[in-house]
This record gives sequence, C-alpha cells and structure tokens, in this order.
Amino acid sequence: MKILIVGSGGREHAIAWKIAQSPKAEKIYCAPGNAGIEEYAQCVPIGAMEFDRLAAFAKEQEIDLTVVGMDDPLVGGIVDVFEAQELRIFGPRKNAAVLEGSKAFSKDLMKKYGIPTAAYENFEDPKEALAYLEHASFPIVLKADGLALGKGVLICNTLEEAKEGVRTIMEDKKFGAAGNRMVIEEFMTGREVSVLSFVDGKTIKCMTSAQDHKRALDGDQGLNTGGMGTFSPSPFYTEEVDAFCREHIYQATVDAMAQEGRPFQGVIFFGLMLTENGPRVLEYNARFGDPEAQVVLPRMKNDIVEVFEACVDGTLDQIELEFEDNAAVCVVLASGGYPVAYEKGFPIEGLEHFKNKDGYYVFHAGTKLVDGKYVTNGGRVLGVTATGADLKTARANAYEAVKLLSFEKSFCRGDIGKAIDEV
Ligand code: AMP
Ligand code: GLY
Repeated sequence: MKILIVGSGGREHAIAWKIAQSPKAEKIYCAPGNAGIEEYAQCVPIGAMEFDRLAAFAKEQEIDLTVVGMDDPLVGGIVDVFEAQELRIFGPRKNAAVLEGSKAFSKDLMKKYGIPTAAYENFEDPKEALAYLEHASFPIVLKADGLALGKGVLICNTLEEAKEGVRTIMEDKKFGAAGNRMVIEEFMTGREVSVLSFVDGKTIKCMTSAQDHKRALDGDQGLNTGGMGTFSPSPFYTEEVDAFCREHIYQATVDAMAQEGRPFQGVIFFGLMLTENGPRVLEYNARFGDPEAQVVLPRMKNDIVEVFEACVDGTLDQIELEFEDNAAVCVVLASGGYPVAYEKGFPIEGLEHFKNKDGYYVFHAGTKLVDGKYVTNGGRVLGVTATGADLKTARANAYEAVKLLSFEKSFCRGDIGKAIDEV
C-alpha cells in the first residue's frame, strides 16, 4: 500500500515509524513532515491545511490510505474533502471531530448521555459569564470553546482572576475565534491519565494508558506546553478504573456520537481525571496525543495499518489490540524559551548513537536538515523514548539517552515519571 501521513511533529514521526513496521506499507509519504520522518517517509511540501492540494497529491500518487495526525485539519474537515473524492482516509469527519473542536459541544454531549465530567455552564455572552462568576466557588476553570493549541484553559483561584480570564478569552480574543464561546466548569483534583482508543463508528478498542506532563518546568511549574514528556502505562490506571471507564465512558461516548448522527471513526483520546468520586472526562481529543503516541505506539504489537483499515472499514470488532508487557518513557528536549519565544537552527549532536538501537527511539518534533546536518526547527525538538521491563527502568534508560543528545539552549524536565515513585 501507499500511505500518506498528514502532520509534522513527534507524533507523526512515531506514526510513520509504526507504519513502516507493517508489511503492508510499500511506500510512505508525509505532508509536510520533518527531517526525522524523512527516514521512513518521503516528505512532500504541502501544508496540513491545504486540503485540495493534499487530495490532488493523493489522487496523483494513487495513495491507498491517508492518516491524519493533527487536530486542525480534522476539525477543519479534511476527511470530508477526501471522502468526497473517494479517497480512503483515517480520521473523524468534521461533524465528529467537533468532539475536540468544541468544548461546549463535548460538555453538552456528556451531560445529555450521562458521561461523568465536571459540572459546567456554556456562555456566548461575556456579561452572562461575568454575572455567573459572582456566585461561583473558586478555584474555577475557564475554557475557550475552540482549538487553542492546548492553551485555552485557565484555572482561576479568585473572582478577580476569573473575571480577567473571561475578558481575555471572550473580549480580547486572546485565542481568536476559539473564544466566541466558553465553558466555565468546576475545578477537579486528582491524577490525570490519557487513554487513546481506536474507533470505527460503533466499536471502540482502547490502547494502553499513558500520562503526560503539560507544564514546562519541573514540579509542574511554568507555562502549559504541548507536553514535555510521557510515560506508559500509568500505574494509577488500575483495573478498577478501567472497569469504571468501560462501563460509563468509552462505549458511551461512541454510542452517543452515533446516536447524534456523528459516527466517530479514528482515534478518540480521553483525557481523564481520577477524582475521589471516580474517573471524570477532562477533555476529548480526536487524534493521537503528542507525546502520548511516542510511548504508546512503541509498545503496540499490532500491525497498525490493519487497525487503521479496520477503523475505516467498520471491522474493528475483529481486531484484538495487543501491547508489550513493558513500559516506556518519553522525555522531550525543547529549545530554550519554549513555549513562548525560542530560536531555531541550532545543530543537534548525538543522534548517531540511536541508529537501530533496540528499545530507544528519538522522535523528531521540530528538526530540519541543513547541508546534511540536523538542526532545531521548533520549540519541542526531540522526543527521546526508551522502553524497559518496568517504568523505573524505562525512565532510567530515557534519561541516559537524553545525556547523549545536545544542542544549544536545550532543556528538558528532570522529573518525567516522578509519580512512579509514589506507587
Ligand atoms: P484540557 O485542554 O481541557 O485538557 O485542559 C488542560 C489542562 O487543564 C488539563 O490537562 C488539566 O490539567 C487542567 N484542567 C482542565 N479542566 C480541569 C478541571 N475541570 N479541573 C481541574 N483541572 C482542569
Ligand atoms: N499531549 C496532549 C495532547 O496531545 O493533547
């Protein structure tokens, strides 16, 4: 098969690596890709939002399957454009990607179908939001409705902060049109777990659990980022938690979407919080997590191309997902200043240590090749993943690997997977 991947980050590198393991994959392309992805796929300079050009490329090259890694094209309707031209594509249509694209939609869906989540109200008028806050208890959580690069969530400790937050989101439009509506919701406490799943419209098959570290600095300090590191599995995702989520969350979400006339095909990413009162949905995403994919996919035994095809064909009930009985840790090496302002173009040293090194994967998030040399080309630069028999071994391996890699002004968190020690 000829397969086209849409995206350019560490997640897409992990997807490209995993697809390349499949005997079904004869030729892989990635648009636009990055320097690391180039090892497995031919990168083509077409942007992820250029749907017509992507579809024309898929036709020209007789692509058998397109796999979309990123949220923006999915929410923007890339799947509908491809399907209208009878091109096979893995991912939710626009009317289903709204599960991630609109937090107000997803909250209303959960309320309607009794899926456990934080109590909330949706607002379209900043005056009403401000009035509501006068009688609220704090801390409280404000969320811009639409996509905001993972930055549209504000946790406010006081009424004053919250009022400022409403103005930032709805009046100053800091997150653009994403702030035309907003959700105000109850603040919850507990551990966070990410569970990714494959869905074919009716059937859902969950992958192994993972945990992300969203803040830039050690001890969960600093600004929110796309994710500074992950580990898998989460030791807090117990059989009891899994049983609860299977009964109340996973299939219920898939059934709710089908019931609403929005059958979901693709990956649903459940962002869960394990509260005192049981698991609650924090958010849904309509794609693999980044860097969750970098720890989940290296542990997956299945041929991922078969799983993608089963999702597209509606035959996922015939697939049994299998994962290695090991663990993986991913540490993100970022460029100084990320997530605010950072420079690009620093040469990267040490990549040669990881050529075909079993149990180690250096996924490129933001790199490019200049005169045959890898240089930094983004805020998150590399995702350094190592596997091990257990989480502690995987973590030690990942941090050993990080020591072999360097570029100017690089930084990483030193406490990825620290929670493991509390088990
Ligand atoms: P989201 O984009 O909805 O996942 O939110 C980003 C982050 O904000 C989450 O990973 C949580 O750490 C935090 N968060 C979101 N909603 C809540 C909530 N209701 N209570 C506490 N923390 C939250
Ligand atoms: N790592 C969080 C996300 O991909 O949304």
